[in-house]
Formats: sequence, C-alpha cells, structure tokens
Amino acid sequence: MNSISADNNLLVFIEKNEANFLEEWWQNICLHQYDLHKDKVKENGTQMYQLIKKTLINTITDEELKLLAYKVAKERVEAKVNIGDFVQNVNFGRTIMIKHLFSAETSLEDLQVAIENLNKSFDKFCYYAVQRYTVLKELEIEEKNILLNETHKVKLTLLGQMSSSFVHEFRNPLTAVIGFIKLLKTDYPTLKYLDIIDHELDQLKFRITQFLHTSKNEGAQEQRKEIVTVHLLLEDIIKFLYPSIVDIDVNVLTYFGPEAQTLANKNELKQVFLNILMNSIDAINKKEKPREISVRTDINGENIVIEISNNGPIIPDETREIIFEPFYTTKELGTGIGLFVCKKIIEKHNGTISCQSNDDITTFSIHLPIASEEKKDMFIKN
Ligand SMILES: Nc1ncnc2c1ncn2[C@@H]1O[C@H](COP(=O)(O)OP(=O)(O)O)[C@@H](O)[C@H]1O
Ligand SMILES: [Mg+2]
Repeated sequence: MNSISADNNLLVFIEKNEANFLEEWWQNICLHQYDLHKDKVKENGTQMYQLIKKTLINTITDEELKLLAYKVAKERVEAKVNIGDFVQNVNFGRTIMIKHLFSAETSLEDLQVAIENLNKSFDKFCYYAVQRYTVLKELEIEEKNILLNETHKVKLTLLGQMSSSFVHEFRNPLTAVIGFIKLLKTDYPTLKYLDIIDHELDQLKFRITQFLHTSKNEGAQEQRKEIVTVHLLLEDIIKFLYPSIVDIDVNVLTYFGPEAQTLANKNELKQVFLNILMNSIDAINKKEKPREISVRTDINGENIVIEISNNGPIIPDETREIIFEPFYTTKELGTGIGLFVCKKIIEKHNGTISCQSNDDITTFSIHLPIASEEKKDMFIKN
C-alpha cells in the first residue's frame, strides 16, 4: 500500500501544477465551435481534476465518478457531438497527467500505485460516460421513431379521409363525361380530337382511382381475383400508353420470357404497371434522346419477374429508399402516392417490388407468385 505521506507528495505536486496541466489539456482537446456546451467543457475538466486528486489519496467513490460522467454524457448528447471526441479528450487529460507525474518527487513504487489508480478512475469515468451516452442516444432515436410513426399515421388518416370523401365526387362526373364522349364518337366518328380527349380522361380516371387504394374501404369489386397472363396485360397497357409514347419519342422494347400466369385482381395489377410506365415516361422526358424503355418478363423459381427499365436520370440511393413512401414526389403536379399504391397492391398479391438505379438505367422489378395448376383450374372454371 502507498503511504499517506507519499500520496501527499503527489497531491501537493498536482495541486501546484493544476493551472498548467489544465491549460495544456485545454490547448490540446478537440472542441467544435458549434458545441452547445462548449463553456462547460473546461468546467468539467476542472471537476475531473478534483476527482483525480481524490483518486490519489484514495478517497474517490464510484458515485462521484458516475455523477460527473452522467452530467457530461447528457451534455455531449445535447451538443450533438461524437462520443469519440469526448473519449479522446479524456485520454489527452490522462496522458498529460501521467506524463507529468514522472517529474514528481516520489518513489517509483508510489508512482506505480498512483498511476494504476489514476488509470482506473479514468477508465471508469469513460465507461460510465459512454454507457450513459449510448442509453440517452437510444432513447432519442426511439422518441424520433415514435414521432415519425405518428406523423406517418396522421398523414395516412388524412389521406384516407381525403380519398373517401373526394374520390367519388371526382369519379362520378368523370364517368359521365367519358360516357358522353363515347356517345359523341358514335354519332360523329370523324370528329377531330375525340380520341385524345378520351385517352386523357381515361388517364385522369386512372390517377383518381389510385386514391381509392389508399383508403381502407376498398369496394368488393377491387378484391375480385382472376388468372392474369402477365405479358398480355403488359402488351395492353403499352398499347394504351401509345399516345404518350409517341409524344415524347421513346423506343419501347419488350422481351417476354416463357408465358406465365398469376392470380390477381387485373385492374389493380394494371394500375401498378401503368403507374411504373407513366413514371418512366415522366423520368425519361427529362433526358436527351435516344430514350428507351424496356419491359421484360421472366420466370424465376415459383415467381414471375417483371422488370420495367428506362434510361432516364438516376434515382440517388437516399431517394430510392423513400420513393415508396406516400406523398414523396419531385413533380410539380405529382401526388407521390403512385409507388406507394403499387407497393401496397403488389404486397397484397404476395409479391415484392424494388427499384435499382444507376447513371445508365433505372429498373423497377416486381416478383409475383405464378398461379399453381389447381388454382388455374379453379379460377378458370368459375
Ligand atoms: N422511373 C423513375 N425514374 C426516376 N424517378 C422516379 C421514377 N419513378 C419514380 N420516381 C420518383 O419517385 C417519385 C414518386 O413517384 P410516385 O409515387 O409515382 O409519385 P408521383 O409520380 O406522383 O411523383 C417521383 O416523383 C420521382 O421522383
Ligand atoms: Mg407516379
């Protein structure tokens, strides 16, 4: 054991040098100018110095170390700085103290014991502070997540209310207008622009119908399933989009693999493909020619894989993660619900949808289960 007199020697030494040692530490530490608790750092250093003094005369308690460590941890979280900086600063203090202790007039034995105790206190202090910091950070993240989930829920509720109250109001007159246009077409088959009006109205109806899928109360009609031959549906949709395709001069290529069927609600699936193709047309419009969209189907195990690609601008990684969220849009007149609805529909059909994007090509991949033979029999008979 170290004697009291030797301890006192060291104590006198570090008391005498307190101002110098602290100044040396202060000059060396890493401190950000935007640190909210910048002023407290020096104060905390001084307080730690007092605790180290107590360490040298063996009167330190864990509680005292913990108290300061917890206070510092809270400040570090509030200051939003990396805990690594804090650990480094503490270790600067440790290094300075140990370095100087060697010039104190004391026996090597006492010095050894003192350094050992000092290291223990520094280690404990760091441990308590980092442990506390982690707990506080986790709490902070949890709170943020709850808040995010809450805002998300509020948005969805709002969307649900919006869709149920407005969609029908929009759809009914629209259906009437589409009906009258058809009548006009029969009466005046050569009348100019009717095809364009008809097509645009169909697209409008499609966009409005998207809102219906975000509301929980989907009508019974929406839930009806049938056996769908995927490539035939894709061909239909590409035909339907023909005016937009010609309009922006894009080359649409199709590569259909072995024929495959899936059990699905055809209208919903149509919405998914239409939406992805319409997004591709929007995206590619921003690019110089040659513009290309490719639609591929293939079989992968139990799934049919549909890949819709375009050579438009890249979707950066951080954006790629949120495009399926409701209300995310980069378009002036966008709704940001298209891909959200796509994901909902595909998942309802036990499939998956994902997006890959680089400078050359952006691809949306959909996997859907292939309908089994017995399901096919069952549904075709019905
Ligand atoms: N093929 C694509 N290429 C580039 N960006 C895309 C593509 N498809 C979707 N996006 C991005 O995802 C966003 C969300 O799409 P979507 O949910 O369909 O809503 P909206 O089309 O109304 O903006 C778009 O605004 C766009 O920024
Ligand atoms: Mg869209």
